[in-house]
Amino acid sequence: MPVSHEAGWAHADGALQGPSWLRVPADVNDLVPLLWSATAHKNADGALVVGGVDLRDLVAGHGSPAYVLDEADFRARARGFAEAFADYDVFYAGKAFLCTTVARWVAEEGLCLDVCSAGELTVALRAGFDPARIGYHGNNKTTGELRRAVDAGVGRVVLDSFHEIDRLAAVAAETGRTARVMVRVTAGVEAHTHEYIATAHEDQKFGFSITSGDALEAVRRVQDAAGVELLGLHSHIGSQIFDTSGFEVAARRVLTLHAQVSSELGVTMPELDLGGGFGIAYTTQDDPADPAQLATEITKIVEHECRAFDVPVPALSIEPGRAIVGPAMCTVYEVGTVKEVGLDAGASRTYVSVDGGMSDNIRTALYDANYSCTVASRRSEAPPVLGRVVGKHCEAGDIVVKDEFVPGDIAPGDLLAVPGTGAYCRSMASNYNHALRPPVVAVRDGRSTVVVRRETEDDLLRTDVGASDIG
Ligand code: LLP
Repeated sequence: MPVSHEAGWAHADGALQGPSWLRVPADVNDLVPLLWSATAHKNADGALVVGGVDLRDLVAGHGSPAYVLDEADFRARARGFAEAFADYDVFYAGKAFLCTTVARWVAEEGLCLDVCSAGELTVALRAGFDPARIGYHGNNKTTGELRRAVDAGVGRVVLDSFHEIDRLAAVAAETGRTARVMVRVTAGVEAHTHEYIATAHEDQKFGFSITSGDALEAVRRVQDAAGVELLGLHSHIGSQIFDTSGFEVAARRVLTLHAQVSSELGVTMPELDLGGGFGIAYTTQDDPADPAQLATEITKIVEHECRAFDVPVPALSIEPGRAIVGPAMCTVYEVGTVKEVGLDAGASRTYVSVDGGMSDNIRTALYDANYSCTVASRRSEAPPVLGRVVGKHCEAGDIVVKDEFVPGDIAPGDLLAVPGTGAYCRSMASNYNHALRPPVVAVRDGRSTVVVRRETEDDLLRTDVGASDIG
């Protein structure tokens, strides 16, 4: 029979220690700076302050849960990439998180924008983003979507299949416009990341395989197509990658093809895009490289390969999403219930239920991702206990933070903040269980501004045709 222990891990026989990487904090109130946006700190009350805003005030004004976006941090990370990769075009990958305000910040910091759907294109254009600085991705773009992209004057369309080459050529003929394109290739690299977010090994849906010869054939067909201008090759090996050797192998393979196009087809492609995927720290296990280090290493690899193949170095571009917006946001929740659950061997785990969950952060359930958290509303002198932060959805897998030490006196009404939720949390949020998606509140210099408002129950009913009584 499982036995529960009131005093938690410190007193339990066979105490649950959590995963091997998780360390008992010296002080459970402290932030691990690497995981948080640059302005985040605890004040004298022990409350979390981001962008000069005490999150207790933010929740009082805007409710909970809320995504808190540190504007200065976002801009600094965007600028950091632009400066480190000064000779490159840096495309912010909007799939990580996009709204009109963020699109404007991206433009103001001098970055280009990668969109991968008609919806993202709509947001970018509504923000007034220069279409010439937009790249359009996707593995199944319809003729209608391609027409819209070409009509809008997007700077480049990244082609992903032979069907798309034909569709785009037809659109170019119909509109009389020239479409500038890149050819997405798969470099056959097994990036060390979750299978669903690795994209350059062979057995997946993206791009043209270099190994099979499809990539060279795609380049040939693009060259032959009227109204389509070939800019170069595009390679994206996956996401949340720390090991630059993945980029090294991919760059070598892609540049082999780049050189082959030059020697066999007599075509010198002016550009090359190496994609995004640069990892961030979600927990103390992660040790991301900074943009300057990435820039130095990637540029060295490309220059070395170009020298070896005796081809000019093409104009380079990259597409970071997560590394810009990921650490710039945290999610603040309110604790609703706390339950100590007895496990085998006398150990127990403290389940902390918050007022959100897998509808605002699906990454834990989907990718087995690890997150961290801190109490955001007060200091605690209680000894830490091993906690698990769960949501309020009807599913046992509704976990936000699998393993983290939380104060032993954590209680309903406490605010809890989870760092590193800027990328692929709001953008992958759902209305599961008819949850209302939280707002994104930008904070800067002590002021908070809603940039995406909280959904309302009217929003939920708006598409429900039977709910015609809703005005
Ligand atoms: N470029 C292309 C072509 C991409 O497909 C992606 C991400 C990026 C750039 C940006 O990658 P980043 O720098 O953000 O890692 N939902 C998953 C990640 C999916 C990534 C999809 N493509 C997650 O939550 O981890």
